[in-house]
Amino acid sequence: MTKVAILVGSLRKESFSKKIAVNVAGMFPEGYETEFVDIGDLPLYNQDYDDEGNVPEAYTTFRNTMKEMDAVLFVTPEYNRTIPATIKNALDVGSRPYGASVWDGKPAAIISQSPGNIGGFGANHHLRQPLVFLNMPILQQPEAYISNSAELLDENGKINNEGTVQFLQSFVNAFVDLIKKVKA
Ligand code: FNR
Repeated sequence: MTKVAILVGSLRKESFSKKIAVNVAGMFPEGYETEFVDIGDLPLYNQDYDDEGNVPEAYTTFRNTMKEMDAVLFVTPEYNRTIPATIKNALDVGSRPYGASVWDGKPAAIISQSPGNIGGFGANHHLRQPLVFLNMPILQQPEAYISNSAELLDENGKINNEGTVQFLQSFVNAFVDLIKKVKA
């Protein structure tokens, strides 16, 4: 079984990112297991916790969970033209202690979304920068900038636009191909 962690950049109950992520989780083929990993309860990263051996339980749980994962899918809104702090904090927590990063070598894919017209382009590309440093092979194509997200979701949170469903399925298929290549 190949395990794919899904990290959502919004903590909002009715988050469009979360709803889109739930739709996408159902698009993985047999042999793939998706898990939504909570990043909202991680205290802001403080290196003293690691240096002084006073590691918050939430860090340990998160790091242990992520170590078990084969790949990571990020689904995120854009906050002020960049990624929300939740995601940056999770990346920082998972990158330490030095030499024990949970991210190293894990294939990653990014879906950004916005109820506006630009689809979270800024967040999507800013997220690529730390992922390069963290040595994560990132899905290049197709790029997923989901715009006008509020209109794409019905009252049950299901994506109601067939073109978008097909596009996201092709995105998942390409991600699965990348995961296979990296694992081979
Ligand atoms: C936003 N929003 C937003 N949208 C966008 O397209 N570009 C942006 O730079 C920003 N900036 C921004 C900052 C902050 C602090 C908030 C709270 C919101 C609007 C944002 O896309 C909208 O609230 C989405 O609904 C957030 O995603 P979720 O929570 O629905 O997943």
